[in-house]
Amino acid sequence: MKQPTNIQKHQGKLGILLPGMGAVATTFVAGCLLVRRGLAEPIGALTQMGTIRLGKRTDGRAPLIKDFVDLAPMSDVVFGGWDIFPEDAFEVATNAEVLEAKHLAPIEAELRAIKPMKGAFFPEYVKRLNGTHVKQAATKADLVEQLREDIRAFVRDNGCDRAVAVWCGSTEIYIEPTKVHESIEAFEKGLRENDPSIASSQLYAWACIKEGVPYANGAPNLTLDFPAALDLARELGVPIAGKDFKTGQTLMKTILAPGLKARLIGMKGWFSTNILGNRDGEVLDDPDNFKTKEVSKLGVLEVILDPKKNPALYGDLYHKVRIEYYPPRGDAKEGWDNLDIFGWLGYPMQIKVDFLCRDSILAAPIVLDLALFLDLAKRAGFSGIQEWLSFYFKSPMTAPQLYPEHDLFIQSMKLKNTLRWMKNEPLITHLGNEYYD
Ligand SMILES: NC(=O)c1ccc[n+]([C@@H]2O[C@H](COP(=O)([O-])OP(=O)(O)OC[C@H]3O[C@@H](n4cnc5c(N)ncnc54)[C@H](O)[C@@H]3O)[C@@H](O)[C@H]2O)c1
Repeated sequence: MKQPTNIQKHQGKLGILLPGMGAVATTFVAGCLLVRRGLAEPIGALTQMGTIRLGKRTDGRAPLIKDFVDLAPMSDVVFGGWDIFPEDAFEVATNAEVLEAKHLAPIEAELRAIKPMKGAFFPEYVKRLNGTHVKQAATKADLVEQLREDIRAFVRDNGCDRAVAVWCGSTEIYIEPTKVHESIEAFEKGLRENDPSIASSQLYAWACIKEGVPYANGAPNLTLDFPAALDLARELGVPIAGKDFKTGQTLMKTILAPGLKARLIGMKGWFSTNILGNRDGEVLDDPDNFKTKEVSKLGVLEVILDPKKNPALYGDLYHKVRIEYYPPRGDAKEGWDNLDIFGWLGYPMQIKVDFLCRDSILAAPIVLDLALFLDLAKRAGFSGIQEWLSFYFKSPMTAPQLYPEHDLFIQSMKLKNTLRWMKNEPLITHLGNEYYD
């Protein structure tokens, strides 16, 4: 990535396209509409409420991030997307039961006007859903063309200057890259030949990158993290990021684990379980779909605790993650963690975490930040993987030779230092020697 000398100023409208318009997507859109009317606060969104320290601690310079870098303002954002069900955003938000009727009422007309475009969908990747609002085409290549036409039409009809996309669709079954994912040519051939290892989500990513639309992957799906998509994004100058929004239990894990590791507290086991009753929970009830999520959730401790380098502390670590579909809870997930830890001379201790969270409430600000930061990245001339956005993901994408940074505090520093670097401000190392000279 080259340090930008000239970041293009934002102008006109930014389209935010959401493949998959379920609970997260509609909570995000409804929240933005409420914020825009001054009826709610954008809690959790760095791009709206976050500040950034510049210079020395004694300088007293800590502007809002949105005043420091040139982000698209909320007033210039237009929402659209695709789903495999035809309900408008108001109906979906009402059925999702994340936001109360009193919050949805003032924005009902605006939400009703947001109707999903027909989705590109192969049910073998999400067996629990029987989509009725789906595109028909002879080949996957034709579907990509239809999606590209959707993007162009959306941008044209809404008078947008440019667009970004954030996948908020379902978690697909676990798949690994095959030969078809190895190069742009192989992938395009696979699209024409309906290769079964090209999943629905990959069609959206391919279409967006081809249209120069930056893309973030909010699910753990294999969507962008294979050589063909990485090459295409770099070749066409499109920023991409993923994957799997870091919200409830994994957010907690990447807050707690770095602290315990920093103090060399040992760990024998970490058992995590959740109950969740929304449609996401229903999809994840299928073992093939859960596997995709499980892989994404399991990676974090291995990297943070690094048992190979710290065998006495973490060599015997047993890490288990479960998700149980339990309809009565809806979106109000409950996540329990039991940590078996040990200290001085090996004496055992335990930590219990009971996080009564709200899945979509935690995910919505992430969608906003990703959309606005990816738009900034594009205007700054960045392309390919945006590792500085790891902060938002359970399984951050990195260059193939690197391990991902999972520690939330390192991720936060990386993000803020990238913003400083973009604006040619000194990076903050926290050395602090200068105050004692
Ligand atoms: N909420 C969180 O905290 C969180 C955290 C990490 C990841 N995620 C992921 O975000 C995604 C969205 O979560 P949600 O709670 O909104 O789920 P949801 O089930 O409410 O919404 C997903 C939507 O995607 C649609 N869909 C599925 N396949 C599609 C396709 N091929 N094209 C277009 N639409 C498609 C479904 O019809 C549904 O409306 C899930 O993959 C979830 O695993 C959520």
